[in-house]
Amino acid sequence: MNNESFGSAPVRVIVIGAGNRAQKYLEYARRFPERLRPVAVADLNGQRRRSLARAFSLPERACFARYEELLAAEIDADMVLVTTPDGVHYDPAVRAIRAGYHVLLEKPIAQRWDECLEIARLAREQGVLVGVCHVLRYHPYFTKIRQLVASGELGDIVSINHTVSVGLDRMTHSYVRGAFRRTRESNPILLAKCCHDIDFLLWLTGKRCRRLSSFGALRWFRAANAPEGSAERCIDCPVEPTCPFSARDLYYVRRDWVDNFDIPEGGTLDDAILRELRAGPYGRCVFRCDNDVADHQIVALEMEDRSTISLTMDAFTKDDFRKTCIRLTGGEIDGDERRLRVRRFRPADERLYDFSEVLGQPFHAGADLRLLEDFLQSVRDPSRPLLAGIDDALESHRVCYAAEESRMTGRTVDLRTEER
Ligand SMILES: NC(=O)c1ccc[n+]([C@@H]2O[C@H](COP(=O)([O-])OP(=O)(O)OC[C@H]3O[C@@H](n4cnc5c(N)ncnc54)[C@H](O)[C@@H]3O)[C@@H](O)[C@H]2O)c1
Repeated sequence: MNNESFGSAPVRVIVIGAGNRAQKYLEYARRFPERLRPVAVADLNGQRRRSLARAFSLPERACFARYEELLAAEIDADMVLVTTPDGVHYDPAVRAIRAGYHVLLEKPIAQRWDECLEIARLAREQGVLVGVCHVLRYHPYFTKIRQLVASGELGDIVSINHTVSVGLDRMTHSYVRGAFRRTRESNPILLAKCCHDIDFLLWLTGKRCRRLSSFGALRWFRAANAPEGSAERCIDCPVEPTCPFSARDLYYVRRDWVDNFDIPEGGTLDDAILRELRAGPYGRCVFRCDNDVADHQIVALEMEDRSTISLTMDAFTKDDFRKTCIRLTGGEIDGDERRLRVRRFRPADERLYDFSEVLGQPFHAGADLRLLEDFLQSVRDPSRPLLAGIDDALESHRVCYAAEESRMTGRTVDLRTEER
């Protein structure tokens, strides 16, 4: 985007939730201060609030602990970035829309289907934009797959097999010990982890889902499976040296997944890690947490054109990527985020695309920043369609909630009768 297409003054953003995701999106404001300017922040965590205020020279009067107060303060701004935890999306989004701001909302939209619908309805009523942070739509690898399918050169999709390898470390960090471990405070794991995937798969097919079934459970990370003699915390545990789920090994030895530990003012990363291991949620034995989300799940979708999609969410693997196999009437596509192989049946040919350079690049390979830029352009010109707007996101959320219903009831859910 060049500066002319962007306008003369920066878009003014209010930030609600100054955590990990906000920091990612605000990289855009650091790189392009002439395009995006934070003007106020709300976060319950004083350290994070102060750090954001310092980074963008916000005055004290623009910093709030409670978003309710911030949104009642009638601050002059164009948009609100909602990057609070899943359980704190609906209320700030609704308040921001009612106050007339455009809203860029982290996924999942909310915690219930009726709340998702209400946000979309209110946005239409108020004439404001709501973007949902489905970053895969802006990621070079996933965009390439979408281009290949949309070009029609391989015919129509017949079936898709998609595997999301969550990986042991992410699983134990986020879905056993961490913020996404309980449905009530967060969401079912399919929404928390795989709503991006469902969104991507629906985006690929361009079709609606007719019916679906899902199975899955919390099979392993429960008290009954705690090894004999194991302790409440890994740091005190005699079994820890051989346990694949050790927090001491993950955080202290390998230094993985430590980015969201707040380093105490004047302290070190070691202090933060040791504090977690001794007293924080991330030091707990994986068999003794208060988690309830599934640790494996499968979903089978039948689409309106009778094509089928299967999605498998795996946690018990060292892999931490997505694999997609697409079978079309004229060819096939297989990808694992590193490599994409495209084979056409006739005239027969095979192409390979290498994404290994892209994999692991920061900001989801730049997708976070492209998503934000897309949103800013639509803020400047609200008639311009958003690539990740709320209406598309509604469809993937509808499917995820239906999958959870199927998993819990054991029934196939028919989506043909459901109204939006
Ligand atoms: N799009 C993606 O790829 C992606 C990736 C990771 C997380 N997420 C989503 O982003 C959201 C935020 O995740 P995160 O990793 O940044 O979490 P985080 O914990 O790092 O940040 C959330 C911030 O919100 C603050 N907060 C909590 N309750 C609040 C309240 N009532 N009022 C004001 N502030 C409050 C916390 O203090 C924290 O600083 C989650 O919904 C998560 O599902 C999206």
